[in-house]
Amino acid sequence: MTAKKSGAKKCCDAPAATASACDYLCNMFSLVGKKAVVTGGGGVLGTDMACALARAGAQVVLWDVREDALAASAARIKKDCGCTEGIEYRKVDLMNEAEMVAAIDAAGDFQILLNACGGNKGKAPLVEQDMETFRFVMKLNVEAGCFLPMKVVGKRWIEKKTPGCIINIASMSSYVPLSGVWAYDAAKAAVKNLTEGAAKEFAPYGIRVNAIAPGFFIGEQNRRLLTNEDGSLTDRGKAVIAHTPFGRFGEANELMGAVLYLASGQAAGFVTGITVPVDGGYLVQNI
Ligand SMILES: NC(=O)c1ccc[n+]([C@@H]2O[C@H](COP(=O)([O-])OP(=O)(O)OC[C@H]3O[C@@H](n4cnc5c(N)ncnc54)[C@H](O)[C@@H]3O)[C@@H](O)[C@H]2O)c1
Repeated sequence: MTAKKSGAKKCCDAPAATASACDYLCNMFSLVGKKAVVTGGGGVLGTDMACALARAGAQVVLWDVREDALAASAARIKKDCGCTEGIEYRKVDLMNEAEMVAAIDAAGDFQILLNACGGNKGKAPLVEQDMETFRFVMKLNVEAGCFLPMKVVGKRWIEKKTPGCIINIASMSSYVPLSGVWAYDAAKAAVKNLTEGAAKEFAPYGIRVNAIAPGFFIGEQNRRLLTNEDGSLTDRGKAVIAHTPFGRFGEANELMGAVLYLASGQAAGFVTGITVPVDGGYLVQNI
């Protein structure tokens, strides 16, 4: 593979052979000229994943229901990327279809949708599950976190003949239930299932639909479940670590390779309907 010649933007100042490798990687993973919408963009993982997309060259639009979190995330991404433009945000309640349609109109053309809105609330024995909480968590993860954005963005992309790319966020509970988080388990199993169904339905339009299943990363929605106020581990946190062959939680930057791989039409152009676990081996169940 040779480096791009005349007119090609030089990727780095490395010697020729290394520069050739850099150009190759650049062509494979560059998102220059692309625009991405990141839902839950004010959250812990949403911010970091948006940052990865921006650092790969994409313009990024963050959607979240928390305006203060959005402003902080946009500022952090600009600082980390060293960019002053190309990062926008908008307050959107993803449980509201009309708000999402308006947000799509405002965003203009975009080619990547990363659905990082979601989370859990509480933990209870099955027979004590509060049903209002159950319905809220189902709606948050299945509707707001996955189905509704796929519906409204997919419709727009089909109309506009945009060969877009959707990345949903599943979970370890998409595969094996976590105890006491009934709605979260059901919802994340649904996210994996919906990813597969949407991949098949959208394939004729050139739209790819995949998901990432993170193991355990400390986010706002699970911080209190996994850590105490002094930062020590809860019993749940200890159980997770004991079950994870790498013996630790994930670092958000360890999700970025999967994000960039799935977002790249070059690297993953023939990949649709898969869910990629990034879990420190959590799903390995041997003895
Ligand atoms: N952190 C983990 O270990 C982990 C593991 C597996 C999967 N996940 C999933 O990854 C995603 C992100 O998790 P996180 O840890 O960054 O959580 P987080 O709580 O930090 O981020 C979620 C974001 O979604 C936003 N949100 C909630 N309701 C919304 C609504 N109605 N409209 C718009 N935005 C809304 C929140 O304001 C928040 O900023 C979630 O789907 C979560 O279930 C996280």
